[in-house]
Amino acid sequence: MAQIIDGSLIAKEIRQEIAKQVEQYIAQGYRRPGLSVILIGNDPASEIYVRNKQKACVEVGFESTIHKLESDISQSEISRIIHQLNQDEKVDGILCQLPIPEHLSEQKIIEAIDPKKDVDGFHPINAGRLFSGMDSLLPCTAAGIIQMLKRIDYDFIGKNALVIGRSNIVGKPTAILLLNENCTVTIAHSKTENLAQLCQKADLLVTSAGKENFIRAEYTNPDQVIIDVSINRNQFGKVVGDVDFKEVSPLVKAITPVPGGVGPMTIAMLLENTLTAYLKFVKNNFKEQQESNI
Ligand code: GUN
Repeated sequence: MAQIIDGSLIAKEIRQEIAKQVEQYIAQGYRRPGLSVILIGNDPASEIYVRNKQKACVEVGFESTIHKLESDISQSEISRIIHQLNQDEKVDGILCQLPIPEHLSEQKIIEAIDPKKDVDGFHPINAGRLFSGMDSLLPCTAAGIIQMLKRIDYDFIGKNALVIGRSNIVGKPTAILLLNENCTVTIAHSKTENLAQLCQKADLLVTSAGKENFIRAEYTNPDQVIIDVSINRNQFGKVVGDVDFKEVSPLVKAITPVPGGVGPMTIAMLLENTLTAYLKFVKNNFKEQQESNI
């Protein structure tokens, strides 16, 4: 039986570490870190995700504000709100929950956010910095996958990693981060041929295909570690990943469950990014204060 990688537990440890750091800064007289979440319309899944993000913020001692906007809001009005949040010194992180209504441009919204406050890590500046090997705010799911593997002492070096999915949010950044950890990385997608064969050879399989029971026994090997990123609903309304968990879990070395695997790690990394942005703000502000006291 595989090791079940407990993302909920690892995420809880990370939240505790963040909460401790926040308290240290509060004790020194600094303000709390602040996260602003923009939610457009009434998508029920998005409302749940946003509520979970807010709950996590409260738990670690962040200020969190939700800007709930009508689904017919104009692009220019959103730009105005984001501009205000960019200027607000109490706001360290800004994110707009996706998906958004069709009349709006996701790219324009992402690009309106100050890259220093882009805690989703979706802004082209942060994507470019990641691609160039520079310090950046990382996309939360990709960062969560790497962090989870590090915390189970996974030895990345020289491993054959196969990433299924080429999205800007998950597949591409995960592949780059695995490359940075010295894995040999392949990105598979909907046009990939012989996927089962590729999967079967992988030491590390990261799947974000979004298809229930997509990964079956013939895709695996006994030394394989599987990270299941997808959140699908099966015919009974139950949340499941891409992996046929019952069939596959006895056959591999380690595997993440869905739910309770990557999901909680994504939120933990959102908190981590907000803390990183906050610490940069505090350091810069503190330096300015010192200079003005001379
Ligand atoms: N919708 C689904 N996943 C995400 C995410 O990571 N960030 C945002 N902003 N929206 C999402």
